[in-house]
Amino acid sequence: MNQNSSSNSSSKNTDVLVIGSGAAGLSVALRLAHLGKITVLSKAEVTEGSTFYAQGGIAAVLDENDSIDSHVEDTLIAGGGLCDEQAVRFTVEHSREAIEWLIDRGVAFSKEDEQYHLTREGGHSQRRIIHSDDATGKAVSTTLVAAVRNEPNIEILEHYIAIDFITGQKLGFTDNRCYGAYVLNLQQDKVETISARFVVLATGGASKVYLYTSNPDVASGDGIAMAWRAGASVSNLEFNQFHPTCLYHPQARSFLITEALRGEGAILRRPNGERFMLEYDQRAELAPRDIVARTIDHEIKKYGFDCVYLDISHKDPEFVKAHFPTIYQRCLEFGIDITTDPIPVVPAAHYTCGGVKVDLDSHTNVPGLYAVGEVACTGLHGANRMASNSLLECLVFAQAAAKDIEQQWSKVPLPPPLIAWDESQVTDSDEEVILNHNWHELRQLMWDYVGIVRTDKRLERALRRIKLLEQEIHEYYSNFKVSGDLIELRNLVVVAELIVRCAMQRKESRGLHYTLDYPELLTQAEDSMLHPQQET
Ligand code: FAD
Ligand code: SIN
Repeated sequence: MNQNSSSNSSSKNTDVLVIGSGAAGLSVALRLAHLGKITVLSKAEVTEGSTFYAQGGIAAVLDENDSIDSHVEDTLIAGGGLCDEQAVRFTVEHSREAIEWLIDRGVAFSKEDEQYHLTREGGHSQRRIIHSDDATGKAVSTTLVAAVRNEPNIEILEHYIAIDFITGQKLGFTDNRCYGAYVLNLQQDKVETISARFVVLATGGASKVYLYTSNPDVASGDGIAMAWRAGASVSNLEFNQFHPTCLYHPQARSFLITEALRGEGAILRRPNGERFMLEYDQRAELAPRDIVARTIDHEIKKYGFDCVYLDISHKDPEFVKAHFPTIYQRCLEFGIDITTDPIPVVPAAHYTCGGVKVDLDSHTNVPGLYAVGEVACTGLHGANRMASNSLLECLVFAQAAAKDIEQQWSKVPLPPPLIAWDESQVTDSDEEVILNHNWHELRQLMWDYVGIVRTDKRLERALRRIKLLEQEIHEYYSNFKVSGDLIELRNLVVVAELIVRCAMQRKESRGLHYTLDYPELLTQAEDSMLHPQQET
């Protein structure tokens, strides 16, 4: 599909191609703008991504009673013995600097008595979450977008979806350096070739692989699948974090109820009003997220509830409205007054802890290709991400990638001429219905067989079906012109397979991976790893 030249193709050159315009991508772009031309791709509007919807805040050591050791220890405990301690320490040590960088860019974090207000979330032994009311992501995203728009060296290409990387191997070279990417200009329905000296993958997570998710539609795991096809190793993809509390309402698609609500005293109740978390964990509502989500799932399945309830009605209504204005307003639109009514909630897929394996400089094992943010697996989260450590990771590893690129800047030459996209052998699709059907089937089977509680049998069943879907989608991709939906589906099915294969490697229950066949922890904690080079 991608050989020789074609009339419907054009090309662009840049110094750094950043794929993704969330906290990770925009931070890398801003940190490199003084050096040369930076091109940022966004497959929807520039703000559309998980970053914009982040609620709770960003974890950082900012209070004088807090310490780096304490934040490190909490992260290691939440991570179920699988975090890379070096990555954790590296992240936490840079946390203050990352927040100061955001404040310098103009992010308005909430204050009380002239001091930045710090809230609490599950797993944190201290108040250390800096936030902008309950809409932290919106504040971060809009501020970074405004800053990027002010930089003459940064070009933002909205509604451009990356399809695949162009690597040395694809060009017939002996090296496998990443030289750029094929991207579909969605508005002009035209594939373009972008060549770059450095490529930064910042495409976010893959929670859209599940039927119910807190994530926006863009979270279809494109970056993980693209990196895998280009030869990058992936790790720990079995650790899919389910957020315990998404609003349960037929019209409320993907609306999250922040964990900070529990941090400020909200209680989880059965439909009859009984509090239940204390029956399972002495940390109750503030136990790490995997425990709370699993407990709710257990309660729902055991008693046949549709949902459980999160109740903050015992707090002063003015406090609730002041701290959680977005949630208050949104729930009110659905007829729920959170100052008086308990909120119906269920767990939903929220965060991809694993991803493309990177080192502390954000290098993947494909030369010239960096991965930053939710798409990457840095070792920070281990088997379970602690709340609000994700935006922090985006910022810290964006800085690390930018620093490394700056050091390499003068040493990396212009890429060779690239081969243009060829669609001379494909036609317009005549059966779009296949895309819709497969999209739904895949997400449903991942929810049913690869969800919060797993078994060997369910994983085997899932893999069999995924292989069939993969074959069908591959055939479709080979015969028809690419579209945004087809590109996403092709990626989702790859990520689904990688998740199941990582889950099959793990013969224990650890963190977010809970299987009835191996309920115990193994004494030796090891990352699951998949290497495309070793595939037959
Ligand atoms: P994103 O912000 O998801 O951005 C991904 C970008 O990649 C988008 O611009 C998208 O268009 C682009 N993209 C994807 N594929 C392609 C492609 N093929 N071609 C071109 N562009 C592409 N974390 C916290 O730390 N604190 C919180 O309070 C918090 N709250 C959250 C609340 C919600 C509802 C959600 C969904 C997540 C929350 N998280 C939170 C997690 C956190 O928001 C994300 O992990 C983080 O924002 C990811 O940032 P990112 O830059 O890696 O990706
Ligand atoms: C939340 O606000 O509950 C989400 C925080 C996170 O995902 O880190």
